[in-house]
Amino acid sequence: MTPDCGTTGWQVKAASGLASVWDREALASGLDGQARSGPGGSIEVEDQQLEAFFRQYTSHVEILKYTKATAGFGINYLLEHDYKTVYLNALNFLPRKTREHGIRILEFGCGGGMNLLQLISVLNRERIRVAKALGTDFSPAMIETARREAKNHLQEQDLQNREFYVAKNESLISDLSVFTTPEESTLKNSFHFVVGVNTIRYCHHAKRQRDCVRNIFNLLVPGGVCVVIDMNNRFPFFRSDLKNRFRRQKEKQCYVPSLEEYTQPFVEEGFEVLRSEHFCWVPHSAGGFMTWLLSWMSPMLNKVARSRAMRSLVVSRKPTTVT
Ligand SMILES: C[S@@+](CC[C@H](N)C(=O)[O-])C[C@H]1O[C@@H](n2cnc3c(N)ncnc32)[C@H](O)[C@@H]1O
Repeated sequence: MTPDCGTTGWQVKAASGLASVWDREALASGLDGQARSGPGGSIEVEDQQLEAFFRQYTSHVEILKYTKATAGFGINYLLEHDYKTVYLNALNFLPRKTREHGIRILEFGCGGGMNLLQLISVLNRERIRVAKALGTDFSPAMIETARREAKNHLQEQDLQNREFYVAKNESLISDLSVFTTPEESTLKNSFHFVVGVNTIRYCHHAKRQRDCVRNIFNLLVPGGVCVVIDMNNRFPFFRSDLKNRFRRQKEKQCYVPSLEEYTQPFVEEGFEVLRSEHFCWVPHSAGGFMTWLLSWMSPMLNKVARSRAMRSLVVSRKPTTVT
């Protein structure tokens, strides 16, 4: 792997603000000739929307939301509790030998790397060896931040084999292959555990969720496990939604799929779905008191209204024998 940022042409243009129009050709190059018409309507409207998402995730304010020190109490709590439990349960599906020899992890749409770095530290404490950890995101600014965060939060000896690269969720293998030698084949069947938190909904928005899931399938070793966590469309109080309700001119939001929609591409691409459910009542942005209150109320909320919880969870495994 080369140590450079791995920023592709269209990303540099858009990130530097030089691109007044989204570099449609470059974006479309990853589409494998698929016809697209997302929830936004025409391709032009969609491209503008994708550009808006991209710009959003290169902004300083957003970066602060996805870095450990500034992200807020709620997400730090979740990474040590609800999410940690989900990851450790999912890792139990891997053979014991793999966990002992060292697992290779990939987080797609990793933002500032907060989730992956926390996962590495949880696994260190649990004495599960991490042989390799790789984070990807389409935002070069996020990837730069993740690299800085890794330097700040990991011990020198732990920095080896912790890498962050610019790659789109929908074309992970071809984007990553730019940084690997000799080529794509080395990436296929190479990860034991793939995670995506609050990012796969953007693929659904662009109707490219199957491309993303197919890439994950190909990246995983047979028997490898994928965990996807994202917004539940049945949770009625997302702050961005509430704010939008009171705006005269509504902001176009990212499409939020149903649990069935999150699960479907995993079934279609040949995964064995191990868990598909709603969970978690603590907002990422919650302060100390709200976190304490909602975590205390969670068992009761789970009993009476589980399908209204904040997140959807899909845990799936690549079959050991792939036909
Ligand atoms: C809500 S943030 C979540 C960040 C991180 N997973 C976390 O939980 O802290 C969504 C992330 O997905 C990234 N993203 C959105 N669409 C993407 C795409 N098509 N390909 C790669 N990354 C994408 C954004 O840049 C952003 O960093």
